[in-house]
Amino acid sequence: MATIKGMNLTLKIWRQKDANSKGKIETYKVKDISDHMSFLEMMDVLNEQLISENKEPVAFDHDCREGICGSCSLHINGEPHGPDRGVTTCQLHMRKFNSGDTIYIEPFRAKAFPVIKDLVVDRSAFDRIIQSGGFVSVNTSGNTQDANALPIPKADADKAFDAATCIGCGACVASCKNASAMLFVSAKVSQLSLLPQGQVEREERVLNMVSQMDDEGFGNCTNTGACEVECPKGISLENIARMNREFLKATIHKEE
Ligand code: SF4
Ligand code: FES
Repeated sequence: MATIKGMNLTLKIWRQKDANSKGKIETYKVKDISDHMSFLEMMDVLNEQLISENKEPVAFDHDCREGICGSCSLHINGEPHGPDRGVTTCQLHMRKFNSGDTIYIEPFRAKAFPVIKDLVVDRSAFDRIIQSGGFVSVNTSGNTQDANALPIPKADADKAFDAATCIGCGACVASCKNASAMLFVSAKVSQLSLLPQGQVEREERVLNMVSQMDDEGFGNCTNTGACEVECPKGISLENIARMNREFLKATIHKEE
Protein backbone atom coordinates (compact mmCIF):
# COMPACT_ATOMS: atom_id res chain seq x y z
CA MET A 1 0.00 0.00 0.00
CA ALA A 2 1.38 3.41 -0.95
CA THR A 3 2.06 5.68 1.99
CA ILE A 4 0.75 9.23 1.87
CA LYS A 5 3.62 11.66 2.28
CA GLY A 6 3.23 14.60 4.64
CA MET A 7 4.16 18.18 3.95
CA ASN A 8 7.69 19.49 3.71
CA LEU A 9 7.94 23.06 4.91
CA THR A 10 10.49 25.84 5.27
CA LEU A 11 10.01 27.81 8.48
CA LYS A 12 11.41 31.32 8.92
CA ILE A 13 11.23 31.87 12.67
CA TRP A 14 12.08 34.88 14.85
CA ARG A 15 14.76 33.87 17.37
CA GLN A 16 15.67 36.15 20.25
CA LYS A 17 17.70 35.03 23.26
CA ASP A 18 16.06 37.37 25.77
CA ALA A 19 14.36 40.73 26.13
CA ASN A 20 17.66 42.62 25.82
CA SER A 21 19.17 40.76 22.86
CA LYS A 22 18.71 41.59 19.22
CA GLY A 23 16.59 39.01 17.41
CA LYS A 24 16.72 37.69 13.88
CA ILE A 25 14.91 35.34 11.53
CA GLU A 26 16.37 31.80 11.34
CA THR A 27 15.47 29.20 8.72
CA TYR A 28 14.43 25.62 9.57
CA LYS A 29 13.06 22.71 7.54
CA VAL A 30 10.46 20.22 8.74
CA LYS A 31 9.43 17.10 6.83
CA ASP A 32 6.43 14.78 6.67
CA ILE A 33 4.07 17.09 8.56
CA SER A 34 0.54 15.63 8.62
CA ASP A 35 -2.21 17.96 7.45
CA HIS A 36 -4.22 16.78 10.51
CA MET A 37 -1.71 18.38 12.88
CA SER A 38 -2.36 21.69 14.54
CA PHE A 39 0.14 24.48 13.99
CA LEU A 40 1.51 24.03 17.51
CA GLU A 41 1.95 20.28 16.97
CA MET A 42 4.03 21.17 13.92
CA MET A 43 6.09 23.45 16.20
CA ASP A 44 6.48 20.51 18.63
CA VAL A 45 7.89 18.41 15.77
CA LEU A 46 10.40 21.17 14.99
CA ASN A 47 11.40 21.43 18.67
CA GLU A 48 11.92 17.67 19.01
CA GLN A 49 14.11 17.85 15.92
CA LEU A 50 16.11 20.76 17.41
CA ILE A 51 16.50 18.98 20.78
CA SER A 52 17.77 15.81 19.03
CA GLU A 53 20.36 18.01 17.28
CA ASN A 54 21.40 19.52 20.65
CA LYS A 55 20.01 22.89 19.60
CA GLU A 56 17.83 25.24 21.63
CA PRO A 57 14.09 24.66 21.01
CA VAL A 58 11.91 27.60 19.93
CA ALA A 59 10.03 29.19 22.85
CA PHE A 60 6.32 29.82 22.24
CA ASP A 61 3.27 30.27 24.51
CA HIS A 62 0.52 27.67 24.82
CA ASP A 63 -1.67 26.08 27.45
CA CYS A 64 -5.16 24.68 26.74
CA ARG A 65 -4.60 23.96 23.02
CA GLU A 66 -8.36 24.12 22.52
CA GLY A 67 -8.97 27.80 21.88
CA ILE A 68 -10.11 28.95 25.31
CA CYS A 69 -7.17 30.11 27.42
CA GLY A 70 -5.76 32.91 25.23
CA SER A 71 -2.15 31.79 25.80
CA CYS A 72 -1.13 30.99 22.25
CA SER A 73 -0.20 33.79 19.91
CA LEU A 74 2.14 33.99 16.86
CA HIS A 75 2.14 36.16 13.80
CA ILE A 76 1.97 33.63 10.98
CA ASN A 77 2.68 34.93 7.48
CA GLY A 78 1.82 38.40 8.74
CA GLU A 79 -1.47 37.52 10.45
CA PRO A 80 -2.10 37.02 14.18
CA HIS A 81 -3.20 33.36 14.66
CA GLY A 82 -2.49 32.70 10.96
CA PRO A 83 -4.56 32.56 7.78
CA ASP A 84 -7.76 30.91 9.09
CA ARG A 85 -10.69 32.90 10.53
CA GLY A 86 -12.26 32.51 13.98
CA VAL A 87 -9.52 30.23 15.33
CA THR A 88 -6.52 30.56 17.61
CA THR A 89 -3.08 29.29 16.59
CA CYS A 90 -3.62 26.10 18.62
CA GLN A 91 -6.74 25.38 16.52
CA LEU A 92 -5.11 26.25 13.18
CA HIS A 93 -4.70 23.11 11.08
CA MET A 94 -1.73 22.40 8.87
CA ARG A 95 -4.17 21.61 6.05
CA LYS A 96 -4.33 25.39 5.58
CA PHE A 97 -0.79 25.13 4.14
CA ASN A 98 0.72 23.28 1.19
CA SER A 99 3.84 21.16 0.92
CA GLY A 100 6.72 23.34 -0.24
CA ASP A 101 5.38 26.45 1.52
CA THR A 102 7.64 28.88 3.35
CA ILE A 103 5.97 30.07 6.57
CA TYR A 104 7.07 33.18 8.46
CA ILE A 105 6.52 32.86 12.23
CA GLU A 106 7.03 35.95 14.38
CA PRO A 107 5.96 37.13 17.85
CA PHE A 108 3.04 39.53 18.31
CA ARG A 109 4.53 43.00 17.77
CA ALA A 110 3.55 45.94 19.99
CA LYS A 111 5.46 48.31 22.28
CA ALA A 112 3.24 47.24 25.18
CA PHE A 113 3.98 43.53 24.47
CA PRO A 114 7.79 43.29 24.76
CA VAL A 115 9.43 40.09 23.51
CA ILE A 116 10.69 37.90 26.38
CA LYS A 117 12.22 35.13 24.28
CA ASP A 118 11.79 33.96 20.67
CA LEU A 119 8.01 33.99 20.07
CA VAL A 120 6.96 34.70 23.66
CA VAL A 121 5.80 38.22 24.48
CA ASP A 122 4.89 39.74 27.83
CA ARG A 123 1.12 40.38 27.81
CA SER A 124 0.90 41.32 31.49
CA ALA A 125 -0.24 44.81 30.41
CA PHE A 126 -3.65 43.14 29.84
CA ASP A 127 -3.62 41.79 33.42
CA ARG A 128 -2.94 45.29 34.77
CA ILE A 129 -5.85 46.68 32.72
CA ILE A 130 -8.16 44.02 34.21
CA GLN A 131 -6.84 44.76 37.71
CA SER A 132 -7.69 48.45 37.19
CA GLY A 133 -11.43 47.74 36.76
CA GLY A 134 -12.38 44.49 35.01
CA PHE A 135 -14.22 43.05 38.00
CA VAL A 136 -17.40 43.41 40.04
CA SER A 137 -17.54 43.87 43.82
CA VAL A 138 -19.84 41.26 45.35
CA ASN A 139 -21.05 41.13 48.94
CA THR A 140 -20.05 37.67 50.14
CA SER A 141 -21.04 38.16 53.77
CA GLY A 142 -23.78 35.54 53.62
CA ASN A 143 -26.63 37.63 52.23
CA THR A 144 -25.58 37.44 48.57
CA GLN A 145 -28.48 37.68 46.16
CA ASP A 146 -29.01 34.62 43.97
CA ALA A 147 -27.87 35.54 40.46
CA ASN A 148 -31.05 34.02 38.98
CA ALA A 149 -33.13 36.49 41.01
CA LEU A 150 -31.83 39.34 38.84
CA PRO A 151 -33.83 39.51 35.62
CA ILE A 152 -31.68 40.40 32.58
CA PRO A 153 -33.22 41.15 29.17
CA LYS A 154 -32.28 38.42 26.69
CA ALA A 155 -30.79 40.94 24.24
CA ASP A 156 -28.46 42.30 26.96
CA ALA A 157 -27.53 38.80 28.14
CA ASP A 158 -26.61 37.83 24.56
CA LYS A 159 -24.48 40.95 24.03
CA ALA A 160 -22.76 40.48 27.39
CA PHE A 161 -22.09 36.83 26.57
CA ASP A 162 -20.63 37.70 23.16
CA ALA A 163 -18.30 40.26 24.79
CA ALA A 164 -17.35 37.73 27.48
CA THR A 165 -16.00 35.32 24.87
CA CYS A 166 -12.86 37.49 24.55
CA ILE A 167 -9.98 35.28 25.69
CA GLY A 168 -7.44 38.09 26.11
CA CYS A 169 -5.05 36.74 23.49
CA GLY A 170 -3.90 40.13 22.18
CA ALA A 171 -4.39 39.41 18.47
CA CYS A 172 -6.37 42.65 18.22
CA VAL A 173 -3.32 44.59 19.38
CA ALA A 174 -0.99 42.68 17.06
CA SER A 175 -3.20 43.26 14.02
CA CYS A 176 -3.65 47.00 14.65
CA LYS A 177 -1.34 49.48 12.94
CA ASN A 178 -1.59 51.62 16.11
CA ALA A 179 -1.17 48.63 18.46
CA SER A 180 -4.47 49.64 20.04
CA ALA A 181 -6.03 47.50 22.77
CA MET A 182 -9.49 49.03 22.30
CA LEU A 183 -11.19 45.81 21.16
CA PHE A 184 -9.97 43.89 24.21
CA VAL A 185 -10.73 46.65 26.72
CA SER A 186 -14.12 47.40 25.17
CA ALA A 187 -15.10 43.72 25.35
CA LYS A 188 -14.34 43.70 29.08
CA VAL A 189 -16.08 47.05 29.71
CA SER A 190 -19.15 45.99 27.66
CA GLN A 191 -19.52 42.62 29.33
CA LEU A 192 -19.87 44.24 32.76
CA SER A 193 -21.72 47.42 31.78
CA LEU A 194 -24.53 45.36 30.20
CA LEU A 195 -25.25 43.37 33.36
CA PRO A 196 -26.90 44.53 36.62
CA GLN A 197 -23.93 43.16 38.59
CA GLY A 198 -21.62 45.57 36.78
CA GLN A 199 -23.52 48.77 37.57
CA VAL A 200 -21.88 49.69 40.90
CA GLU A 201 -18.44 50.47 39.46
CA ARG A 202 -19.69 51.19 35.93
CA GLU A 203 -18.33 54.72 35.45
CA GLU A 204 -15.21 54.30 37.57
CA ARG A 205 -14.43 51.10 35.66
CA VAL A 206 -14.36 52.60 32.19
CA LEU A 207 -12.32 55.62 33.31
CA ASN A 208 -9.75 53.47 35.13
CA MET A 209 -9.43 50.82 32.41
CA VAL A 210 -8.99 53.38 29.63
CA SER A 211 -6.46 55.30 31.71
CA GLN A 212 -4.47 52.08 32.40
CA MET A 213 -4.66 51.16 28.70
CA ASP A 214 -3.09 54.52 27.82
CA ASP A 215 -0.43 54.20 30.55
CA GLU A 216 0.62 50.81 29.15
CA GLY A 217 1.51 52.43 25.81
CA PHE A 218 -1.24 51.02 23.57
CA GLY A 219 -2.19 53.27 20.66
CA ASN A 220 -5.52 54.82 19.75
CA CYS A 221 -8.26 53.34 17.60
CA THR A 222 -8.57 54.86 14.13
CA ASN A 223 -11.45 52.62 12.99
CA THR A 224 -9.44 50.44 10.62
CA GLY A 225 -11.23 47.30 11.79
CA ALA A 226 -8.27 44.89 11.42
CA CYS A 227 -8.80 43.80 15.04
CA GLU A 228 -12.34 42.56 14.35
CA VAL A 229 -11.14 40.61 11.30
CA GLU A 230 -8.28 38.89 13.14
CA CYS A 231 -10.02 38.31 16.49
CA PRO A 232 -10.38 34.54 16.95
CA LYS A 233 -13.60 35.06 18.93
CA GLY A 234 -15.36 37.46 16.55
CA ILE A 235 -15.51 40.32 19.06
CA SER A 236 -17.42 43.10 17.31
CA LEU A 237 -16.36 46.73 16.80
CA GLU A 238 -19.75 47.61 18.33
CA ASN A 239 -18.06 47.10 21.69
CA ILE A 240 -15.61 49.92 20.93
CA ALA A 241 -18.53 52.24 20.10
CA ARG A 242 -20.20 51.20 23.39
CA MET A 243 -17.00 51.84 25.36
CA ASN A 244 -16.64 55.30 23.79
CA ARG A 245 -20.21 56.13 24.88
CA GLU A 246 -19.55 54.78 28.38
CA PHE A 247 -16.32 56.78 28.59
CA LEU A 248 -17.97 60.02 27.45
CA LYS A 249 -20.86 59.66 29.92
CA ALA A 250 -18.48 58.87 32.80
CA THR A 251 -16.24 61.83 31.92
CA ILE A 252 -19.19 64.26 31.85
CA HIS A 253 -20.54 62.99 35.20
CA LYS A 254 -17.10 63.25 36.77
CA GLU A 255 -16.79 66.88 35.67
CA GLU A 256 -20.31 67.87 36.81
S1 SF4 B 1 -10.78 41.05 21.48
FE1 SF4 B 1 -10.36 39.15 20.31
S2 SF4 B 1 -8.25 39.42 19.58
FE2 SF4 B 1 -8.54 40.89 21.26
S3 SF4 B 1 -7.86 39.85 23.12
FE3 SF4 B 1 -10.09 39.46 22.94
S4 SF4 B 1 -10.22 37.51 21.83
FE4 SF4 B 1 -8.12 38.23 21.51
S1 FES C 1 -3.37 27.39 23.77
FE1 FES C 1 -5.21 28.09 24.79
S2 FES C 1 -6.17 29.31 23.26
FE2 FES C 1 -4.48 28.44 22.20
